[in-house]
Amino acid sequence: MKEKIIFATKNRGKIKEINMIMEDTNYEVISMEDAGIDIDIVEDGSTFLENAIIKAKEVMKIADCIVMADDSGLEVDYLDKAPGIYSARFGGEDTSYRIKNKMIIDKLEGVEEKDRTARFVCAIAAVFPDGEVLTTRGTVEGIIIHEERGSNGFGYDPIFYVPEYSCTTAEMDNESKNKISHRGKALRSMKAKMESHRNGCK
Ligand code: IMP
Repeated sequence: MKEKIIFATKNRGKIKEINMIMEDTNYEVISMEDAGIDIDIVEDGSTFLENAIIKAKEVMKIADCIVMADDSGLEVDYLDKAPGIYSARFGGEDTSYRIKNKMIIDKLEGVEEKDRTARFVCAIAAVFPDGEVLTTRGTVEGIIIHEERGSNGFGYDPIFYVPEYSCTTAEMDNESKNKISHRGKALRSMKAKMESHRNGCK
């Protein structure tokens, strides 16, 4: 029987992605909804990692198994790493990504290629019932292009160009994106840390 982990998200797509990565482990990841937990969490940390820890600890207050949470977003160097932890709220929570992406492109008007660097960041925290916390972070580096390209993915994917692959993350299929993405990297390193933890290593 696999050990359950609650992932502090309401997003089913994320659970599917995580379970694909955790498939060959002794863990099964379920959503808050599957665990019968329905709470709204105030993410008032000042970094991705603080927010991930806040979310996992809040759920842990009413759970009796390992709880994992993530926080992610886009950092644009020329904009002093904005929108960063405010990526979802940038330009307004209900504003479409077509508009959010246009706002970023406009803010970079006239900015040279070399100064258009950006990255997606993902921090993951796993909190154990005994209070122990494991954390990981994953990033993928890219460049903000001048117009949207591609229709896969979500959010800022259409303006995030990865030079190594000569395409935006919205032009990659799910499998290719998972291989290089911030979330894929953070999840795979969390999986490795959890397995060492299970075997008694710190
Ligand atoms: P969350 O932490 O998954 O809620 O993501 C926060 C926000 O960061 C999302 O709403 C997107 O705006 C942005 N974001 C995070 N990961 C990605 C990605 O892989 N592609 C595009 N946008 C992303």
